[in-house]
Amino acid sequence: MDKILVHGGRSLEGDVRIGGSKNSALPILAATLLTKDRCVIDRVPDLSDIHYMLTILSQLGCEVERASGVVQVRAEKIRTEAPYEIVRKMRASVCVLGPLLGREKAAKVSLPGGCVIGDRPIDLHLKGFEALGATVTVKGGDILLEAKELKGARINLRGRHGPTVLGTGNIMMAAVLAKGTTIIEGAAEEPEVVDLARFLSAMGANISGAGTQQIEIEGVKELHGANHTVIPDRIEAGTFLVAGAIAGKRVTIRRAEPKHLGAVLEALKNAGFDLTQTEESVTISPNGARRPLHLETIPYPGFPTDMQAQFCALLSTMDGTSVVTETVFPQRFMHVAELKRMGASIELDDHRATINGVERLSGAPVMASDLRASAALVLAALPAEGITEINRVYHIDRGYEAIDEKLNALGAHIERVKV
Ligand code: EPZ
Repeated sequence: MDKILVHGGRSLEGDVRIGGSKNSALPILAATLLTKDRCVIDRVPDLSDIHYMLTILSQLGCEVERASGVVQVRAEKIRTEAPYEIVRKMRASVCVLGPLLGREKAAKVSLPGGCVIGDRPIDLHLKGFEALGATVTVKGGDILLEAKELKGARINLRGRHGPTVLGTGNIMMAAVLAKGTTIIEGAAEEPEVVDLARFLSAMGANISGAGTQQIEIEGVKELHGANHTVIPDRIEAGTFLVAGAIAGKRVTIRRAEPKHLGAVLEALKNAGFDLTQTEESVTISPNGARRPLHLETIPYPGFPTDMQAQFCALLSTMDGTSVVTETVFPQRFMHVAELKRMGASIELDDHRATINGVERLSGAPVMASDLRASAALVLAALPAEGITEINRVYHIDRGYEAIDEKLNALGAHIERVKV
């Protein structure tokens, strides 16, 4: 198990290239199960979550080849049971349910367990599968889906905390091969849903409305192979912009999609940072004049829950009192206790953090709890005094490609130590 040592106090300057989106690539790879033909997916990031997904595809019977960022999958003959040993490692494994049901009219996948960012039910996914005509049984820790045939239906996927991103993807993937028309209301509008719809359309699916709250899918008889390039990772991009804000002189993110970063760029501007952008890059130049923020996480196009922890780190180092409200995963504040160990002044009240900026954080041994919480600890450590030792960094390797090397190339001093 690796740990990371961040030697604080270095300033960052330079350019960083953003990788392909993890949260786009995962359901897109699952969607390759929908055809017997070969699919070629480009710009797939090298992350442990992607590795788990490729292992699941192999175990389901797919031929999988990977060369740098390009993954080829051929799902000629497949099984419908995903092995528990791998599924349990990654909650996003649930996104094989939709394509297995769509193509084979059957699926058996373990029910994901609890998760540090909170209770993460999949009731909305299951409600959608039932509406399409599947029988859903939960037995022995597994979800069993079966259907004689799938029929298009009108399904509302909005839950108590808003729409569901993977749920929208799952129902789209099941509905593309259903008979007739499916209308998803309360659909997630995230760019990752649009990317999946683009890939499914390239495979021959008939989908309209992706990126809005209503998606319409006209079922087709079969899908064929397709090539696809995954969109840039907007959360990796946002994380490096916060790195620039917290410890930078000038940091430019390249190969990014600034259009997907609206709420994050607005928050940084409101906090007083200078930003300049082109079609595929954003440069952040801290200018000394910083203002505290009131932020609320909201499904896209609102401020993303996946950037909440990183902003808590930034706001901890800025003058004034900021308030951060988490509405998507109300319990997603595992980073707060660790930031406090570094000297942050944060009060948690239910799903709201009140942050009083301090002059300087100080290095401390801290524990990574989930992916974005770990990123927040790395960010907080950049300007901190002394050395921060971050344990359990496997969390960060799930979603950031060589974050230590990329930050070091900008001037940080981060060591990875094998324990
Ligand atoms: C996706 O998770 C992302 N994961 C998450 O990224 C991200 O935080 C989340 O969307 C929200 O943007 C992937 O794409 C692999 P949801 P997902 O279903 O789809 C509730 C990261 O750090 N809900 O949109 O699983 C749920 O509890 C991660 O990269 C139900 O109530 O999230 C939450 O409150 C972690 N019933 C809200 O909806 C359901 O059936 C949104 O969750 C499903 C969800």
